[in-house]
Amino acid sequence: MTEVTIKKGQEIELTIDSLAYGGRGVSKADGFVIFVKNAIPGQKVKALIYRKKKGYAEARPLEILEESPHVVDAPCEHFAFCGGCTFQQLDYSEQVNQKKQQVEDLFRRQAGISDIAIDEVISAELQFHYRNKMEFSFSNRRWITPGEPEDAKKDFALGLHVPKRYDKILDINACHIQPELGNEILDVVKRKTQELKLKPYDVRTHIGFLRHLVIRFGQKTGDIMVNLVTSYENPELIQPLANDILEKFPKVTSIINNVNTKKGDTAYGDFETLLHGSPTITEKIGELTFEISSNSFFQTNSIQAEKLYEAALAGAELTGEEIVYDLYCGTGSISLFLAQQAKEVHGFELNTSAIEDATRNAITNRITNVRFHKANLDFFFKKGKTHKDLPGPDVIVIDPPRAGMHKDMVKALPEFGAKRLVYVSCNPTTQSRDVALLMENGYELKKLTIVDMFPHTPHIETVGILKKS
Ligand SMILES: C[S@@+](CC[C@H](N)C(=O)[O-])C[C@H]1O[C@@H](n2cnc3c(N)ncnc32)[C@H](O)[C@@H]1O
Repeated sequence: MTEVTIKKGQEIELTIDSLAYGGRGVSKADGFVIFVKNAIPGQKVKALIYRKKKGYAEARPLEILEESPHVVDAPCEHFAFCGGCTFQQLDYSEQVNQKKQQVEDLFRRQAGISDIAIDEVISAELQFHYRNKMEFSFSNRRWITPGEPEDAKKDFALGLHVPKRYDKILDINACHIQPELGNEILDVVKRKTQELKLKPYDVRTHIGFLRHLVIRFGQKTGDIMVNLVTSYENPELIQPLANDILEKFPKVTSIINNVNTKKGDTAYGDFETLLHGSPTITEKIGELTFEISSNSFFQTNSIQAEKLYEAALAGAELTGEEIVYDLYCGTGSISLFLAQQAKEVHGFELNTSAIEDATRNAITNRITNVRFHKANLDFFFKKGKTHKDLPGPDVIVIDPPRAGMHKDMVKALPEFGAKRLVYVSCNPTTQSRDVALLMENGYELKKLTIVDMFPHTPHIETVGILKKS
């Protein structure tokens, strides 16, 4: 097989060698790469080439000719259509092995760091039921799966988006990555909303009442929040639903109605009404307590978050004397975790409500050596601009969004002269790009750890430790 002999529309036998970042199978022959959808390493498949580009092609499997030694039965009945947990067919140890290879490959190929090796992989303690937050959508346009009868009811669904369809919702009976109780709540809400004849919101016409159901769990505390997101406020419509939830699940500690009147399809409301209990739930990471309101960001796997923060803390090598900057600090959970062993921590974050949450969390935990600063890090520390009121950092923690750091922030970082950088990332593509630049400017990558936060999904979380050369 060579690049010249591969044609669009061709049927071809392929052996899958590995998984690419994002989850497609990779078949390589004579240096030519074919990405194969829904295929796992070790399989031999007959596949159809549906796209051919310079240097690579894309294919979909028509038939499995030989099964992979790593295959397992996907436990989820929605696996074929949902698009969420695309690695379910692969045994867990091979999932982790593939993630490790993907990170090494990205650092080697994209960042040109040739002698890269992952130093440590921290696998997930819970492989199912690990998410502390699930967000389901209501829709009057249910995704019809192949084989359903012609007259199947199409105008109600409560579930998850099918890949690449903003308007179609796959009705979900059970999602195995949320706690079992979440599935029971999902079922009750589905039945009761139909019994009450509440109308799902139509994302095309913008008519209808019910938009989202968000369930949050304090996995360490037992708190449960049910957040019903609607397109307008109507207590007469929503209260009977809340009463039913409470009657069936008396352990629910908060029921909230967020009202999102905007066309944008988010589960965040313009305002919220408390229908039962407390406006927040509480969760613990290590010894720290966090109050989480319906719209606050919080790590979605509490157990693995603790391991991630421990890896960051170990890499920071704190003695109690250090000034730490926590860039992109969100609600301050890493800042507070590190503050317990640092002299002083300064968190920097763009989002005002995250800063408010972070400040409140510091007060709740009686931590007095942290300060949070509202800052747009795309230009806050631009070359030449330092923060004169603040002491210089010994250690800098960075946990940017998927896009990684702004290039001016990467350029400004070495000017602080910090001894250690702890780079936490949910996207190894942008992390490897930023790390390569830092390595050109006086830092050495000393350790790279994977913390598997999201089993069965392609998501990867890494912690890179860099030291000043
Ligand atoms: C991955 S989250 C960090 C989460 C936090 N470290 C934690 O563990 O809870 C990235 C954060 O970066 C913030 N952010 C995004 N762009 C930013 C910018 N230009 N300047 C400052 N913060 C930004 C987001 O609001 C978000 O809170």
